[in-house]
Amino acid sequence: MLLTACRLSKALQLTLAVVKPDAVANPVILEALHQSILDNNFAIVRLKDLAWRRQDSERFYAEHSGRFFYQRLVEFMSSGPMRAYILAREDAIRHWRELMGPTKVFRARYTSPASLRARFGLTDTRNTTHGSDSVQSAQREMAFFFPDFQVEEWMQREEPAFRLGRICYDSGKHVHVLAKQR
Ligand code: RTP
Ligand code: MG
Repeated sequence: MLLTACRLSKALQLTLAVVKPDAVANPVILEALHQSILDNNFAIVRLKDLAWRRQDSERFYAEHSGRFFYQRLVEFMSSGPMRAYILAREDAIRHWRELMGPTKVFRARYTSPASLRARFGLTDTRNTTHGSDSVQSAQREMAFFFPDFQVEEWMQREEPAFRLGRICYDSGKHVHVLAKQR
């Protein structure tokens, strides 16, 4: 499958996206989220299904410790299976956060009704998805979820082919791979 990104010359950006336990618990929503990723011209570089222990959740969200929602958040994020993605696109961080919509589900329904959180979110905590908010947090979060993934190596070896659309979607593994690998 060729992405429209193939006509772009700017380097692709990587971001970390997570489908949270509320959404993974519903297979129809999980599939709809996956399809939205494909429909919005993200390339899926990595995908991993996993579950967190409470200490993983506390470590990941350490920046929010002390906030009123922290306990609720870490408990929820270690309450069941999740799915993590590394996504590639031009301005991937911004585009993924736009697709998710505002953090608060009721605000999302009002201001961005087509967003993922508006469509599928349940509460301000159980809001379907996570996305990195900066290049620095994307680096940290990709390393957190995918410790074996080498960003620099991917940028050198695979980014040019991904940017030129020389990739296919592997419907068994649910990721994009270099066209010549198939
Ligand atoms: P995320 O980190 O999950 O992509 O979401 P975000 O940047 O839009 O929001 P952030 O401020 O980083 O908050 C992280 C997560 O904490 C939960 N939260 N609950 N008012 C509340 O009850 C509240 N505020 C934040 C949400 O799950 C949010 O995604
Ligand atoms: Mg955040």
